[in-house]
Amino acid sequence: MVLRVVQWATGGVGVAAIKGVLDHPDLELAGCWVHSPDKAGRDVGELIGTEPLGVIATNSVEEILALDADAVIYSPLLPDPDQVAALLRSGKNVVTPVGWVYPSDRQGAPLREAALAGNATLHGTGIAPGGISEKFPLLFSAFSTGVTFVRAEEFSDLRTYEAPDVVRHVMGFGEVPDKALSGPIQKLLDGGFIQAVRMIVDKVGFAADPKVRSSQEIAVATAPIESPIGVIEPGQVAGRKFHWEATVGDEPVVRVTVNWLMGEENLDPAWDFGPEGQRYEMEVRGNPDVSIVVKGFQSVVGGEGPEYGIVGTAAHCVNSVPAVCAAEPGIATYLDLPLLSGRAAPDLA
Ligand SMILES: NC(=O)c1ccc[n+]([C@@H]2O[C@H](COP(=O)([O-])OP(=O)(O)OC[C@H]3O[C@@H](n4cnc5c(N)ncnc54)[C@H](OP(=O)(O)O)[C@@H]3O)[C@@H](O)[C@H]2O)c1
Repeated sequence: MVLRVVQWATGGVGVAAIKGVLDHPDLELAGCWVHSPDKAGRDVGELIGTEPLGVIATNSVEEILALDADAVIYSPLLPDPDQVAALLRSGKNVVTPVGWVYPSDRQGAPLREAALAGNATLHGTGIAPGGISEKFPLLFSAFSTGVTFVRAEEFSDLRTYEAPDVVRHVMGFGEVPDKALSGPIQKLLDGGFIQAVRMIVDKVGFAADPKVRSSQEIAVATAPIESPIGVIEPGQVAGRKFHWEATVGDEPVVRVTVNWLMGEENLDPAWDFGPEGQRYEMEVRGNPDVSIVVKGFQSVVGGEGPEYGIVGTAAHCVNSVPAVCAAEPGIATYLDLPLLSGRAAPDLA
């Protein structure tokens, strides 16, 4: 049986998700919600740069709620929990990279109630959070016994991130350190990464302090740095690190870290990515110690092609849809779903 999927928003993730749905043997595109008025009324094929698909984009929420569809891939700029609740109540399963990877009972309660009312399921996924930061370290931890420490870490050069408003006003690059430190990013990141750390703590069974500690560090430019937000001048923020840590007593047992740099030169402190360059890295200490480096999600600075982290995020959403549609109503995390995989390319299936 082919499942009917709606794509909610056509930014980077949305466009890649639509292409992923078209490539997936068990899915078909049933509808598409767009935020931008100028995209409404247009064939979705035109929006993603392919031949017409016969599916017309709409910016009417009511139209989507009334549509006969099995699932929605929900990837707007920022989540609106009321919107997600309405989708669930209308009987549509929701897969999303914007939250709910491992919500606490309190955080998940309103949406769990909406999902039960609509006999639907909500699933939060992604890369980080939603993949590298909890799901994949947990999978690799199965190769060790006596686990003492789990780490997940992102090392990215933000010069390939072409979203100037987000980089400056949300992430705080190019600002003076005080302004960056008081900006919205820490709270936004906490929302997802604390859930990631808690999932590892609970599944591995660490008797950790319930409070996950957040901390951050800043590097400033020591000379002008060319970037997508223009030149970052000496003294302005050009590197940020965010850490989330769970501890047993004073002993760290889980740590998730994000390293975002505007290149590796003219930074104070003199941070760099080390010889392995941009990557995601996971480590499990136990018997034996295991470490894994993942390449391919970060774009080459000055290179061509999409942001592959965005494409990977979209694929993780698309490949989750059949399992989420088959799951019990409510909120399903990775701990509730079976093993997911990619599917063969259409000409090889
Ligand atoms: N968990 C992860 O690992 C992960 C990874 C990547 C991204 N994400 C998250 O996924 C979401 C989408 O990312 P993206 O790269 O696709 O972002 P994006 O390229 O900026 O696209 C977001 C889309 O949201 C719509 N939009 C814009 N302003 C809006 C508003 N005020 N209200 C509602 N919708 C609005 C627009 O849709 P239309 O163009 O259709 O009008 C826009 O294209 C973001 O929240 C991002 O943080 C998570």
